[in-house]
Amino acid sequence: MIVTKRVREIREIISDLELLKLDPKYRGAAEINIGFFKAARSIFSFIHWLIFVVPKLGKIRESILELADLPLKKWQRKTHEGLIKYQSSRFGRRMITAFIEELCQIILKIKEIKRNDEPTVVFDLGFGGGELGRQVFKKLPDVSLVYVGIDISPAIMETARQAFKPLHEKGEIVFQELSILNDEVVDALRREASGTSKKVVAVWCGNILDLDKYLSAGKIDIMWHARVLHHLTLADKARLVDICRRLSPITVEMDDRNCFWFKFWTTLTTWLIYPDVFLMNGGILSCLRDPTKEELTGHFKLVSPFSYVRLIFGRNICFQDEKWETAMKTLVRGFAFEG
Ligand SMILES: C[S@@+](CC[C@H](N)C(=O)[O-])C[C@H]1O[C@@H](n2cnc3c(N)ncnc32)[C@H](O)[C@@H]1O
Repeated sequence: MIVTKRVREIREIISDLELLKLDPKYRGAAEINIGFFKAARSIFSFIHWLIFVVPKLGKIRESILELADLPLKKWQRKTHEGLIKYQSSRFGRRMITAFIEELCQIILKIKEIKRNDEPTVVFDLGFGGGELGRQVFKKLPDVSLVYVGIDISPAIMETARQAFKPLHEKGEIVFQELSILNDEVVDALRREASGTSKKVVAVWCGNILDLDKYLSAGKIDIMWHARVLHHLTLADKARLVDICRRLSPITVEMDDRNCFWFKFWTTLTTWLIYPDVFLMNGGILSCLRDPTKEELTGHFKLVSPFSYVRLIFGRNICFQDEKWETAMKTLVRGFAFEG
């Protein structure tokens, strides 16, 4: 029998997961992943898993963790590498185009509301190497921006270094890795961007749930986070919303929707068109934790192909006066609202 790289990797992953299962903290998540990877050995067993196991997982969806969320460094790295490659592919781009459109519109509107020449400070929470940031730079070449990417994974910092290198070499950005993050650092980045036509990019390795320990309100113009919520527990999701409300006048949340077509598309692309069992694991398991269309609340908009954008407005941030109240009405135009 020919043992392909995929078969070898799946065997290795399953044996690492069997060891991890001995740790009570990860037993449930390891079992779910073992089930996933055993099914992923053939398309028939995978379809069987999708039809018969996935509905049962729906009942324990908050306890689902992807392979990349488990303390298995080698596989975390593999998943990040796969994601970065996929994002720069034609199919990957298709998954973020509509979101980038929305985001750029919001950045331009916030710039207009502020009506000053100061650079706009954007924070990308769980930035995963910064593909979204680079797409925003392409769409808004003349907008003065400070882009701060934050991610908890040290492996992502290396990915970011490599991925931003071409822009740095072309002289389009200034790139720095931050060892600390606080108000003074953000002020310094803003000053730096005022004196240059380049975008100022800074990355920081840390937990987005600690941001309010280091930063005060009024330092950030826009935050966004994309495909991050499904990595967090229910309590941490609520904490993140609270942090967003306290630190930034507006946060743009983006994620996929839990729907049949997303699962179908992910299975098809990661099996046939862009074969990658790590991406398939991340895509399918994250989808099970994503909200369905019916579960969405607040100001949200469905964006193609299977995603949504939700606006989270800040509270008591310095420039939130009457002008801001009027601006908010413009920002939510085209968004649905569910209480
Ligand atoms: C699926 S990736 C999405 C990356 C990027 N936002 C995108 O859409 O291309 C999720 C990222 O969130 C990061 N992440 C998860 N929990 C985090 C936390 N508590 N603090 C910072 N980053 C976190 C992960 O390390 C990972 O890089």
